[in-house]
Amino acid sequence: MTAHPSPRRHAYWTDAAREVRLETRAFINGDYANAADGQVFDCVNPATGEILGHVAACGQADVDRAVAAARNSFEAGRWSRCDPAIRRGALLRLADLVEEHRDELAVLETLDTGKLIRDSATLDIPGSAAVFRFFGEACDKLLDEAVPVGSGALATITREPVGVVGAVVPWNFPLKMASWKCAPALAAGNSVILKPAEQSPLSALFLAGLAAEAGIPPGVFNVLPGFGPEVGAPIGLHPGIDCVGFTGSTEIGKRFLSYSSQSNMKRIWLECGGKSAFIVFPDARDLNAAAQAAAAGIFFNQGEVCSATSRLFVHEDIRADFTTLLLEAAKAYSPGNPLDLASGMGAMVSEEQTGRVLSYIDKGRNEAELLCGGTRVLTDTGGCFIAPTIFTNVDSRSVIATEEIFGPVLSVLSFREEAEVVQMANASQYGLGASVWTQNLDRAVRMSRALHVGSVSVNAVDNVDLRTPFGGVKQSGNGRDLSLHAFEKYLDLKTTWISIQEAAA
Ligand code: NAI
Ligand code: MG
Repeated sequence: MTAHPSPRRHAYWTDAAREVRLETRAFINGDYANAADGQVFDCVNPATGEILGHVAACGQADVDRAVAAARNSFEAGRWSRCDPAIRRGALLRLADLVEEHRDELAVLETLDTGKLIRDSATLDIPGSAAVFRFFGEACDKLLDEAVPVGSGALATITREPVGVVGAVVPWNFPLKMASWKCAPALAAGNSVILKPAEQSPLSALFLAGLAAEAGIPPGVFNVLPGFGPEVGAPIGLHPGIDCVGFTGSTEIGKRFLSYSSQSNMKRIWLECGGKSAFIVFPDARDLNAAAQAAAAGIFFNQGEVCSATSRLFVHEDIRADFTTLLLEAAKAYSPGNPLDLASGMGAMVSEEQTGRVLSYIDKGRNEAELLCGGTRVLTDTGGCFIAPTIFTNVDSRSVIATEEIFGPVLSVLSFREEAEVVQMANASQYGLGASVWTQNLDRAVRMSRALHVGSVSVNAVDNVDLRTPFGGVKQSGNGRDLSLHAFEKYLDLKTTWISIQEAAA
C-alpha cells in the first residue's frame, strides 16, 4: 500500500481543486470517446453553482457500442476465461492506482457532489481502493464443487460469469458505489458497463483510465455518463446485457424490474432507499455516545445516505435528556465549504435535491415541532447548503417519518414498550438498517431478530465492512453488496454430469 501524507491545510485542497484535470468523455472499448451524437451536459459544483465542465451525454448508440465491445471482449475470453490470478493482478494494480491518485479523485468527488474533502480523501477513495483489492484478492481463491454421485458418474458444480453486467449507480458515494458493483463483477470475469449518475460522473471517468493502465483489456470495462432515460433505460432494456446491479431510488429500482421483464429477463440486483430506525432504550450505557452516533447517523454525508438513520425512537423516560445531548451533537455538523477541513457538513448534491429536501422540511413544519435547522444557509456562496434539521413530536404515520428525505433531516419519535417500538420501526416500506442502543443482551438479540432489515448495529450506527454483506429487505431491494456473497450476483452455477465407464475398455 502506498503511504500518503495527510494534507491538513485548506490551501492544499483549494490548489488541488484549481489544478485538477477533468476527463469528460465516455470510455468505450478501451478508449475515451465523445458521445456518438456529440451531446454534452453541464457538470456543476453544488457548493458554488459553478460549471466545472461539459460531460458526454451518451445515448442509445453509445450503449449499443459499449454492449458490442463488452460482448466481444467477453466472448474472446482474455478476461472471462483467463487464469483468475491474472484478474487478481490487474485488480490489485487498479487498487494501487486509485490510492496513488487519491487526492485527484478526492477533489473530483468533492467538486462534483459537494461532500466534504475530509471524507472523500479518507473514506470514499481509500474505501473504493479497498473494495477492488478485496475482490481482486478473493477471485482466485473461490473453489468449485464436485458432488458425490456414486462411481458411475462425476458431477461438478462450476461458477461461470454471467456475461455483460450493467452497473447503474447514484451520486451520494459515486466511486464507492461504482466499486461495490464493478469490483465483484469484474473479479468474477464479467465485462462491465458502468453508468455513473448525471450529478457525479467525474470519478468514474477518471477510474476508466486507471483500469486500462492496470491492464484490464479493452471492452471489459466501459463507462457511459449521461441521464437515466437516455443511458439507464437502454441498459435496462438491452438484450445484450445479462445482469444489472443498481443503487438508487426505489422508484427507479422498480423500473429496472420492468425493463427486465420487457426485455430478456436479465438479473436485476437492487439497493434502494431506506428509512432506518435508531432506537435508544433507557438502559443504554452512554447516552452521550448514543447521541453522537444518532447525529452522525443522519448528518454524515449531508444525510445523503441510503442507510441513514432518519427515524430516532427514544424511550420516553430519557427523552428530555437525550434531546439536549442530541442538539449539542448536531452542532458539529454546521455546513461550510467542502474543501475546508473545518467544515462540519458539505453541500447538497444539486439544486433539485435541495428543493426536494426543503419541501419535506415544509411538510414537517405542519406535522411536527422543529427543534433546530430547517433552512437553506450560506446562500451568498451560490451553493446548496441546508442546516442540520431535527423535528420532534413526530407521528410515526406522518410524511417526514415515512418517506425517504435523503437530506440532513431527523424525525424524533418516542415509545414506552419494546413491542411498540418494534411495531413502529417495522411499519415501513423499507428495510435497510437499524441501530439499537441497550446494555441488555436479551433485548439486543430480541430486537435484532424482530427488526425486518438487512443489517442491525447494536450500540453502534451503520457498521459496514468489506467482509459483511450490505443490503436490504422489502422495498430497500434484494441485492447484497460487499463480502464474498457479492460474487453470487455475478456468477451463474453450471452443473455438469459425466458418465464414467469404470473398467477401462
Ligand atoms: P435515481 O434513482 O433517479 O438515480 C439513480 C441512478 O438511476 C442514476 O444513475 C440515474 O441516472 C439512473 N436513472 C434515473 N432515471 C432512470 C430511468 N428512468 N431509467 C434508468 N435509470 C435511471 O435517484 P435521484 O433522482 O438522483 O434521487 C432521487 C431520490 O432517490 C433521492 O432523494 C433519494 O431518496 C433516492 N436515492 C437513493 C439512493 C440510495 O443510495 N439508495 C441514491 C440516490 C438517490
Ligand atoms: Mg432521478
